[in-house]
Amino acid sequence: MGHVALSPVTINGQSNWFGLGPIAVIPERQKQGIGTALIKRALTELNQIIAGGCVLVGNPDYYSRFGFISNGALTYFDTPTQYLQFTQLTGSELRGEITYHDAFGGA
Ligand SMILES: CC(C)(COP(=O)(O)OP(=O)(O)OC[C@H]1O[C@@H](n2cnc3c(N)ncnc32)[C@H](O)[C@@H]1OP(=O)(O)O)[C@@H](O)C(=O)NCCC(=O)NCCS
Repeated sequence: MGHVALSPVTINGQSNWFGLGPIAVIPERQKQGIGTALIKRALTELNQIIAGGCVLVGNPDYYSRFGFISNGALTYFDTPTQYLQFTQLTGSELRGEITYHDAFGGA
């Protein structure tokens, strides 16, 4: 019914951070709380492994409810900074370029 992925990212060389996404729920089951459950579970798993935190590229209107914020100091190619959001778990304040795993083809 739904899918979420976490993958390691580096931010300005800082490791132990993870990127959330892609996340998707099949259209006929959207707006039933599945996306929320997937995101909360993903963040719980990151807390358990004592990750620095989690970044994503997405709509602030949706992800802010999970504690994601934008500080205007993250970059990812030419993506507007308000879409580059993070939630800090144990890491220090974020600044710089997000680099996803090579499996994402450098994108
Ligand atoms: C985004 C997505 C995963 C949310 O899953 P979901 O199971 O529908 O989410 P929930 O039921 O937990 O939450 C629904 C709430 O999220 C809001 N929402 C969903 N997608 C949104 C979006 N793109 N922007 C803003 N709000 C969004 C709904 O309006 C609803 O708001 P409400 O609680 O105020 O009524 C799902 O809509 C989806 O698969 N979208 C297509 C793929 C996509 O855009 N993925 C994200 C980018 S990778």
